[in-house]
Amino acid sequence: MASPRGAALGTPTILHAHGLVLRPVTAADEPAVAQAMTDPGVLQWAAGMAVLDAPPKDRATVWLSARIGAWSTGTAAFAVTDPADGIMIGYLGLRDVHRIPDQAIAGYWVTPSARGRGITARALDAAASWAFTSAHRGGLGVHRIVLDHVLDNPGSCRAALRAGFAEEGVMREAFIARDGVRHDCHLHARLATDPAARPFT
Ligand SMILES: CC(C)(COP(=O)(O)OP(=O)(O)OC[C@H]1O[C@@H](n2cnc3c(N)ncnc32)[C@H](O)[C@@H]1OP(=O)(O)O)[C@@H](O)C(=O)NCCC(=O)NCCS
Repeated sequence: MASPRGAALGTPTILHAHGLVLRPVTAADEPAVAQAMTDPGVLQWAAGMAVLDAPPKDRATVWLSARIGAWSTGTAAFAVTDPADGIMIGYLGLRDVHRIPDQAIAGYWVTPSARGRGITARALDAAASWAFTSAHRGGLGVHRIVLDHVLDNPGSCRAALRAGFAEEGVMREAFIARDGVRHDCHLHARLATDPAARPFT
């Protein structure tokens, strides 16, 4: 999975930034993931159909099995953790790295008890800054990272903007929910050449 200017995504990476540690997801994260997979927002907007199709008791295992080892198939799957205890409080993934040359797609969730602290914006900025770094300096050498959210997810929109991901428009009926309802989505993107996010305090 390498572009002429990008990095192979084979080496799991640990990032320290903005008071967070982003490290590869592991099987030991199962209790934290199981808790998150009971949250209606995570299930509705971020878990994916494979998780929703699984019995509730198996959802964490299904989610984890798609992400442990995902580094070798083009996804940087980060557990977002509090440095004080290393416990997973959220997820930040960059998938399809270099599938389109120099691009990646971000996705995320935060466990309900950790919300309201700007975790997503900080984790997004940390992951993007790393991904924009050239391959020979330890990054991925991507130029453009995109993300999208349904229009009725204002928290995701605010977090994306705070991390420097500008709104680029509306993607009509781009998300189909489990109940079959199609939702319009905002497309956001940040370029390597965009201004950095405002400092996080
Ligand atoms: C979206 C999500 C990741 C944000 O979690 P978070 O990082 O803790 O976000 P915060 O609670 O710190 O809020 C970030 C911003 O959104 C705002 N916000 C949060 N919920 C909001 C709401 N319901 N309406 C309006 N604004 C809201 C906050 O005020 C804050 O704004 P600010 O930057 O101007 O201060 C989290 O709610 C979540 O996991 N939701 C379920 C899964 C999901 O939707 N994932 C994204 C799929 S695209």
